Amino acid sequence: MITARNLADLESAKKSLNAKILGLVPTMGALHEGHATLIRKAAAECDAVVVSDFVNPTQFNNQDDFRTYPRTLESDGVFAASAGADILFAPGVEDMYPEGSGIDRKVFDLGGIDRYGEGPRRPGHFNGMAQIVTRLFDTVKPDKAYFGEKDYQQLAIIEYFTKNLRYPVEIVRCPIARAADGLALSSRNSLLTAGQRAAAPGIFKAISRAVEYVGKMSVDDAAAAVREEIDGNSFLRTEYVEIADEATMRPVSSWDEAQGIRLFCAVYDGNVRLIDNMKLK
Ligand code: PAF
Repeated sequence: MITARNLADLESAKKSLNAKILGLVPTMGALHEGHATLIRKAAAECDAVVVSDFVNPTQFNNQDDFRTYPRTLESDGVFAASAGADILFAPGVEDMYPEGSGIDRKVFDLGGIDRYGEGPRRPGHFNGMAQIVTRLFDTVKPDKAYFGEKDYQQLAIIEYFTKNLRYPVEIVRCPIARAADGLALSSRNSLLTAGQRAAAPGIFKAISRAVEYVGKMSVDDAAAAVREEIDGNSFLRTEYVEIADEATMRPVSSWDEAQGIRLFCAVYDGNVRLIDNMKLK
């Protein structure tokens, strides 16, 4: 595997591989088994795979979160290679934002999918995410790009702007990878203390139960029951539980209001913010 630390390295690494179908797995590093499932899928479907490893400053609305975000570049290289990556692209901020460190004023049309869920709670997050993902598309020029359904709203937004901006990139959805106890794999899990980690599967337990509520209780009561169950654990505090149309993220008030309905939540486990989602219908 080649590690490319800037755009020139990336170009020559791409040239040397001369792949017909190039796959991209965008990440912010701190690679874990969830990323490995994306990389393995990309390796099976493409001639070569680029894993980008870049903690993108423009998508953090909270500077503390940016500062404490886990950074493990050395071990990421070993991990990405063993999962089947051909290039680890770990650029500097100046490569991705040459106009000034971490500043990009471009405003994207996100189709209104950013109006709910994470959108209002993390102002600017999805626009910053769109800035870096389009810059990765522009520099890596992949044929296929792989994203996990854990960040379901992000995935829906990426599908929207990829189509809207006519990027010739196929977006490949990958199911949520979970630990044996149900916790959705996330780089942020490494920030949990032992006690917090033991509490975290309570999120999966509560949102899984919601599948049984469909059609048996109102949408509002189902959301309230999930919130109550999560908040019943002294480590956990829900920021939101929303049951929404999975295509638009707009909250629904009845089970027949949309074809695909999912529950979305953000939960503080101590001071670590975790998100998860579950298909209900
Ligand atoms: O999902 C992530 O890790 C990030 O939002 C992404 C897509 C790599 C953009 O920085």
